[in-house]
This record gives sequence, C-alpha cells and structure tokens, in this order.
Amino acid sequence: LGDRSLVVVSNREPYVHGYADGEPTVERPAGGLVTALDGVVAETGGTWVAWGSGDADFDPAVAPDGEVELPPESTAQDDDDRPGYTLARLDLPRRLVENYYYGYSNQVLWPICHLEADPVTVDPEFWPAYREANRRFAERAVDADPDLVWFQDYHLGLAPKYVREARPDARLVQFWHVPWPTPDFFEICPQATELLRGLLGNDAVGFHLERYAANFRDCVARFVPEAEVTDSGIRYDGRTVAAYASPIGIDTERVAANARSDAAAHYWDRITDRYDLDPDRPVVLGVDRLDYTKGVVERLDALSHLLETNPELAGEFTYVQKGTRTREGIPAYRRYYDAVRDRIAELDRVHGTDDWTPAVYIEDDVDDRELAGLYRNADVAVVSSRRDGMNLVAKEFVAAQGRPFPNAGLAQAKGLESPNRDRVPGALVLSRFVGAAESLCPAALPVNPYDVSTFAETIRTALGMGEPERHDRMESLQASVREEDIDAWLATQLDVLAGASQVAAADD
Ligand code: G6P
Repeated sequence: LGDRSLVVVSNREPYVHGYADGEPTVERPAGGLVTALDGVVAETGGTWVAWGSGDADFDPAVAPDGEVELPPESTAQDDDDRPGYTLARLDLPRRLVENYYYGYSNQVLWPICHLEADPVTVDPEFWPAYREANRRFAERAVDADPDLVWFQDYHLGLAPKYVREARPDARLVQFWHVPWPTPDFFEICPQATELLRGLLGNDAVGFHLERYAANFRDCVARFVPEAEVTDSGIRYDGRTVAAYASPIGIDTERVAANARSDAAAHYWDRITDRYDLDPDRPVVLGVDRLDYTKGVVERLDALSHLLETNPELAGEFTYVQKGTRTREGIPAYRRYYDAVRDRIAELDRVHGTDDWTPAVYIEDDVDDRELAGLYRNADVAVVSSRRDGMNLVAKEFVAAQGRPFPNAGLAQAKGLESPNRDRVPGALVLSRFVGAAESLCPAALPVNPYDVSTFAETIRTALGMGEPERHDRMESLQASVREEDIDAWLATQLDVLAGASQVAAADD
C-alpha cells in the first residue's frame, strides 16, 4: 500500500475495554480475521474506526474521546518495526444501536442475505438509524484523511457513498462477509435501491463466492436504473465498480498449534470429566453461534431421527453441542436459544438411558485453544447451516484435526505439542448451503439440512467411516483449507485495495 494512509471501518472493534473488579481490562475478540486486519492496519500506521461497545471504552483513563493509540507491541503480532495504529471508537447512543445494529442490520439485512424471509422485521425507525450510524462511521473515516478506506460487512452499506461524497479521490473497497441473494429475494428489502447506491460508492465490493458477486450484479441491474452492468464492471456515476469473489480462510498453523496445545488437552479432559464422557464412545460435535441460520435445530432433529430409526445406535456416540449466545436483544434469537435447549433436553429424555446421555450442551466461554481442543477430539463434526457466507467452523475443525500437520515440528519447537493425542482423523458433515462447501465437498460429506432422513443417514455414514477413508478425506480437506487460507485472502484484498484492479476486473 506504500505510504498511502489506510482506514479500516467495521462495526465490531478489535479491542474491547471493560471492567473487572472496578479495574479497566482489555479483551481481544478471538479469531483470525481480526488478527489479520489488525496486522495490516498496524503495518500502515492507519486508523480503525468501529463502534465502541465495551463498558470502559470511553473511560477517560482508558481512552480520552474514545481514541486509543495502539503501539505495535499491543497489537496482534509483536513487531516493533511497525508504527501501530489509532483505534477510533464511535460513542453511539443506545437507541441508535438498537435500531441500526439490532434493527436494520440484524433484522432486515442479515435475514435477507441469508434467504430467511420469516425473521425479517421492518420497523420505521430502523432505516433512519442505519443511515445515521453509517453517516457517523463515514464522518469519522473522513476525519482520518484517508487515501484508502476498507469497509467490512453489511452494517456499513451506506458509508461508502458518504465517504465518496467527501473524498471523491479516495479508493474505497468493501468486503461483504455474508451471502448476497438473488434479485427476487433481495426485493424484500424496502430500501433495495438506496442500499445498492450506497455500496456503489465503493471502487470494489468483495464476496466469498462468484455466485454472490453475480447476484450482486444482477441486483444492481434490476434495482439501480442509472447503473450499467458490463463485462468489465459496473458503470456508475462516472466510475467503474468491480464485484469480485475471494473466499476467506483461516490461519491454519495457528489453529493446528492451538489444537496441540496443553490448554486444548486440559480443556478436553475437563469436559470429559464433567460430562463423564466414555473415551471409547465417538463424539459428534457441533460448534455454533446460536443463530437460526446455523441449522442447529435441524441437526438435533436429524439426530433424533437417527436414534428413532436406528435403535442399535443407542449408546454408540455422544453429541456435544458448544453454543454461544448471540444478538440477545432480538426476540428471534432468544427463541432460538430456547428451542435449542429444549431439543437437547428432549433428545436426552426420550433416548437417554441410565448410563448414556445422548447430547450434552456446553455454554462455557472458551478461548481459541480450548475451542481447538473440542475440534481436535471430535470424531465427527457437523456444520448444518441453512445458509452461511463461508463458515469458518468447518475450516477450523479441519485444521485442528488429523495428521499430518505441516507445522507439527514448529508446534513442538514452541512447546505446544500435547503428549496425548495421535488419533484417527474425524469426518466432516457439511451443509451444501455454506460457502465453504464449494471447496470442501465432496471430501466433506454434503447434506441438505432440510432433508431430515438423508441428513440422519449421512451422520450415520460419517460415524461408520473407516480409518483409511477418514485419512484420505482429511488429507484432501486439509489441502483445501491450506490453499484458501487467511493469507491468500489477505493478499487478494491488499491487491484490490492497492488498486491492482486487474485482480478485481479479472473476476468479473
Ligand atoms: C457474522 C458477521 C460478522 C459478525 C459476526 C458476529 O459472521 O458476518 O460481521 O461480526 O457474525 O456477530 P455480531 O452481531 O455479534 O457482531
């Protein structure tokens, strides 16, 4: 990016300040994406603009005016040659957050992008709040005097247009981390045209799959009459806007090292003790943010069907569900949480015996290593989203599983090698409706989560899969996950940001 100044804009912040026993604390949301973006901004000495959602984010002792200078040593990778960056937090009033985040972003755009019409709730206060929040994000980005602005995700559909108005010369790029629907579905959005005009403030808009990018172009063609969709991009307002595809991945080495860490092994031992898991009984694992798009209810229905139709499987496996509560300000999410808990209780009541509990539910707050311990010890992982832009749980499971690990030597050198696991790799059951299925199926067993009996049958196949087949499939899964990893994704985004737009145009 040379010495051009970069501003990243996202809804969530990379550092959240809170309090513990009255003292300010800092928390970093786990995950490869934040770490990767953090590294890029720190490299350029840029600014990251985000909603300050932590209790102590605006404590004058922590962050005067909500701004924190992050020296390189406090950012993700310890590299003192980098300038570090400014985290500029927006102090958004509660009512605004309710309407733009819980409202428009998560009750209009989220369900529409995931092809879920039922949860769509249109409240007259949502759209003005979304506009207002986007205006504030844009204003703060412009204050940082950027040459390049990199927007993340669906919370920020209008900000590019506002930044463009103030800075016609800046280069603006957005990555849309969720699917983009077809025009017939997108039509549900009452502000379809305004939203698309907002996004067309960018020079390039990225999606995980070419299908989503094609849907985006089709929506522009249908809802923005003044735009022209051509083979080389979208002509709009005297500029060309590219819609490109670039599948996001994970930091495979980090996940693999986490999976072999002592913390991972200890956490697994704790879980085994707490739920009295029999080491000889295979574990089927689900790891989900409790969101209706994740197909957790469909999965539990499939497990219940499996036990009804195959009584000989009673006692032959344990289903472990790790669930994380999410977006609890929204009634549909609270109902979903209850539905998952009820289904698990019912599964245990109907099918459990004196010495076998079919399903256990874990709600612990886990860190990356503990989570990797769950992945590492599962014999079958099931990802059954009704719809998902990419789904990184599937990729993390693969990176945490099986042999050979390309970095086993490295992990060992760092003292991360855990003494106790050298095991047969697990099998992955994966919804056809997630972005990751494009690269991971058919090495992962594809399922349609709506088709309960075939879904149940596929779980049975995964449970019964022999060792040689598990090895073959896992080897191919690991190769795919390594090929499309976070570094590959980042390299493409940096090319697009730098204006090497042949990358973007080539995909059109
Ligand atoms: C999805 C979205 C992200 C979002 C995450 C967690 O993956 O694409 O933008 O951050 O869910 O959701 P939350 O609403 O808690 O930020």
